[in-house]
Amino acid sequence: MAKNFYITTPIYYPSGKPHMGHAYSSIVADIFARFKRLEGFNVLFLTGTDEHGQKIQKEAKKNNKDPKIFCDEISQTFRSLTRTLNLSNDDFIRTTEQRHYKSVIEIWNKLVSSGDIYLDKYSGWYSVSDEAFYDDDEIEDKNGKKISKSSGSLVEWVEEESYFFKLSAWSNKLLEFYKKNPNFILPESRKNEVVRFVEKGLKDLSISRTSFTWGIPVPKNEKHVIYVWLDALTNYISALNFPNTEDKKYKDFWPADVHIIGKDILRFHAVFWPAFLLAAKLPVPKKVFGHGWILSDDKKMSKSLGNILDPLEIIDKYGIDQLRYYLVKEVSLGNDGSISLENLKNCINNDLANNYGNLCQRVFSFVKKNCDNKIPISSKLNNSDKKLLDNLKNSLPKLISLMNNQELNEYIKKVVGFSFDANKYFNDSEPWAVKKKDPERMNAILFTIVEQIKNISILLNPIIPNATNKVLNMINIPVENIRIDKIKDENILNNKKELGNLEILFNKIEDDN
Ligand code: ME8
Ligand code: MG
Repeated sequence: MAKNFYITTPIYYPSGKPHMGHAYSSIVADIFARFKRLEGFNVLFLTGTDEHGQKIQKEAKKNNKDPKIFCDEISQTFRSLTRTLNLSNDDFIRTTEQRHYKSVIEIWNKLVSSGDIYLDKYSGWYSVSDEAFYDDDEIEDKNGKKISKSSGSLVEWVEEESYFFKLSAWSNKLLEFYKKNPNFILPESRKNEVVRFVEKGLKDLSISRTSFTWGIPVPKNEKHVIYVWLDALTNYISALNFPNTEDKKYKDFWPADVHIIGKDILRFHAVFWPAFLLAAKLPVPKKVFGHGWILSDDKKMSKSLGNILDPLEIIDKYGIDQLRYYLVKEVSLGNDGSISLENLKNCINNDLANNYGNLCQRVFSFVKKNCDNKIPISSKLNNSDKKLLDNLKNSLPKLISLMNNQELNEYIKKVVGFSFDANKYFNDSEPWAVKKKDPERMNAILFTIVEQIKNISILLNPIIPNATNKVLNMINIPVENIRIDKIKDENILNNKKELGNLEILFNKIEDDN
């Protein structure tokens, strides 16, 4: 029976066009989703857009548009980005959909029944851009303006009637929960920040607003709309057909295995979300992974600095596999990381064109020229052949555990190392030198190296699906049923069919490009 795995990205605000940060979270989540499928899991991968709240209402007004029409348009650009990024998402949720609306109302009602909601008045700081409330000690003055210390965004003073969630009552239960589930918040450094925040004691949370209307109305008091974060977080179960908890999707996939998010929204996912769920007596997700920021030339990307790298432009010019690979190779998942065009080009040339791409190209043209374009099958492997193959096979348990701990960069480093070793093996074994005097030896070398190319291609498949699918197709391995455990299988190479045509996998980028 297939085991289930549920992974999500944040649902993005359709307030402006998607940028590299959005692309990054989505690509990362896609890589894990694809890897779990290779492991044989039944995966549900969800992404979408977060469409209510003051920020969206304001942005729509600025554009002279009805908020729903405004969201329809921009949400569509996020949906089309999922295809441009080659995401394997199974669903795309919008918080303006009926299925979501129902689910939010049910959560609200559950929190009312459990006695966790009361009506009062909120007065304090609010950032529309973050859709977040801040305490006095979380804001500072900058050029005469009040801004949030953590995000730098403007805050304004808000005083209005509001429903509150009794978050204060959940501090200890949350701390117990973190202790019992030490991998709930990753990476470790982020977890410590959250624990310190909760240890200070939590204040009750305002969960409705009355000063604007673009949101889901509070049941029985429609002058309030539900706070956009309570609304948004619920998307993760709306997509499973909550409130129907008997639904197969809900039963198979809740609690989620991992929410992939940026560190900016950790508090919402690691404090508020589990508290809402505990109060509603629903299971809490297994893991929240808060990745770092993508910086451009060491600075946070921003419109005013003019250093925003547009994912669409880059994909157009260099290719999607290239961008996917570069982002996750260059930026260490838990930390902030700088990206630049210069490094992107170097990375494409060194890792993709000269290493993996060149390996495939050399080996396949050799087979074409010297073996009637068919892979020779050999059982006469010598120690150096076996060593090459065993090295990779013996690391499989480690590779799987790296991916399951979101140690993506370590994983990539190891796999690229295998590709580098394979190139070296091919040079050192000199199949061209034994072609005449010892064709059996040549066959053993070619068998070994193609086998290794197959293995490396499977391992790289979640990261660069287009290029590796080309390679696997070319050696007549059906990509629909590749699995990590097939790596151990030396009998799936086909020596009867000719190799397919290999297009250039990765063009080298010249200096002036
Ligand atoms: O916060 N580097 O949406 P959002 C890395 N709607 N990741 C980045 C990034 C950067 N420079 N910029 C953005 C919201 N991201 C809410 C989420 S979830 C229930 C609701 C990524 O459009 C990162 O994942 O502001 C971050 O958490 C997310 O985009 C914020 O997207
Ligand atoms: Mg944001």
